[in-house]
Amino acid sequence: MSTVVYLNGERVDYENARISVEDRGFQFGDGIYEVVRVYDRRFFYLDRHLARMKKGAGEIYLNLDFGIDNLERLCRQAVKESGFKDASVYIQVTRGAYPRQHAFPPESSCTWVIIVREALAQPREYYENGVTGITVPDERWSRCNIKTIQLLANSIAKEKAKKAGAYEAIFHRGGCITEASSSNVFIVRDKKLLTHPANNFILHGITRRVVLEIAEKSHIDYSEEVFSLEDLFEAEEVFVSGTMTEIMPLVKIDGKIIGDGVPGEITRSIMNSYELLAKTVDQ
Ligand code: PDD
Repeated sequence: MSTVVYLNGERVDYENARISVEDRGFQFGDGIYEVVRVYDRRFFYLDRHLARMKKGAGEIYLNLDFGIDNLERLCRQAVKESGFKDASVYIQVTRGAYPRQHAFPPESSCTWVIIVREALAQPREYYENGVTGITVPDERWSRCNIKTIQLLANSIAKEKAKKAGAYEAIFHRGGCITEASSSNVFIVRDKKLLTHPANNFILHGITRRVVLEIAEKSHIDYSEEVFSLEDLFEAEEVFVSGTMTEIMPLVKIDGKIIGDGVPGEITRSIMNSYELLAKTVDQ
């Protein structure tokens, strides 16, 4: 069992995988990516991730010249070859290599990479007891719905969280909570689940959508609406969602205890439903 890398459709050794110094991903952050989870050899909504990638490519005028079907086929093949039961699949596509200029190259072909690694589950106690968060100003650009590889603001935010001994950094823009450095944010207020609307200020998380589908099926009242920093601190429950994060309860933010200081009832119910899906979804 080992990490598997595909570069431009060819299997390459991890150590020997090379891309050009003129790659636009390297020089301009001109590319998009996806992270997909595999549970017990079953893909968790690869179809939705690829659909988001296709949409994102359209937003940045990137022609996925290798073909999305080809990408899907190789992702599946790479996971099989890795031998890992539980894996993360990192997919990155850039506009390729061309002598440096800001405007798009008149011609170039995409650089596309698939990396399959073993996914190690996060510590059980994180989910059982909850984790902590900090809040930071959202200093990103205003097209956060595109999953671009330009993640510097997210990295700075996550580093701040790490330095503060916290799990995640929650972004606020103009006093409103948008999302977190690598996850979406949910609060429970008056027994109702709230999350930021899926507009240009957040990534339209695949896990976020799954949470809303669970809420719908479980008759949990929910709304996609903007809420404030104050609402966050006064929430009965807070959790974040993401492919690798899954559903993670936050019990303390900026040193303030959330609700009863333990994962709340609605959060736990969603976590249980999510766990069941992780054992069954295969698409
Ligand atoms: N991040 N918001 C941001 C800013 C993210 O980077 C992510 C995921 C999410 C959750 O999206 P999804 O549910 O589709 O994974 C929300 C990935 C996992 C990463 O950068 O590693």
